[in-house]
Amino acid sequence: MIPETLKTDLQARIAAAVTPREAAVDVLKSLQAHYGWLTDEAVIEAACLLGLSPLQVDELATFYEMLYRRPVGKRVIHVCDSISCWAMGGETMLAHLARRLDMQPGETTTDGCFTLLPCCCLGNCGEGPTMMVGDTLYGRLTPESIDAIIDQERKNALHQTGTAGNQNAQRRNTP
Ligand code: FES
Repeated sequence: MIPETLKTDLQARIAAAVTPREAAVDVLKSLQAHYGWLTDEAVIEAACLLGLSPLQVDELATFYEMLYRRPVGKRVIHVCDSISCWAMGGETMLAHLARRLDMQPGETTTDGCFTLLPCCCLGNCGEGPTMMVGDTLYGRLTPESIDAIIDQERKNALHQTGTAGNQNAQRRNTP
């Protein structure tokens, strides 16, 4: 169950939208930030707020790759596997991350810090290879920069309070 303050805030955002559906992704991201992932409870709450059926909300939630219908780590690492990043060595960076984190793409680290997911273009094609950790974009990746980023992000995740790993503002970092 979400706190009354969050509910009021979401209702205001929906009221300000042209249609409730327009606010759906924003609402789902906020619920995800609250719960850490989109639980069945979150989907039902979103459906009630938006005036949609749970199935309609579930269809949206499973369509967008930044929305998670399964538990994820405190930081989700999206590694771009689209053409520009692939040409710049993205596949090698994904393999390095998997080795560094001792897991396969699609898995979560045993300490619950990271989930590793390949993804489509992150809109940073000129600075590939690119990954996004939580809401922070990192470009021009090298094995060395990845190691430094993972160390810092793990420290941040371990100091983080609450369940969610996502912040609303997107940041950009190119080491
Ligand atoms: S191809 Fe990787 S960010 Fe666009």
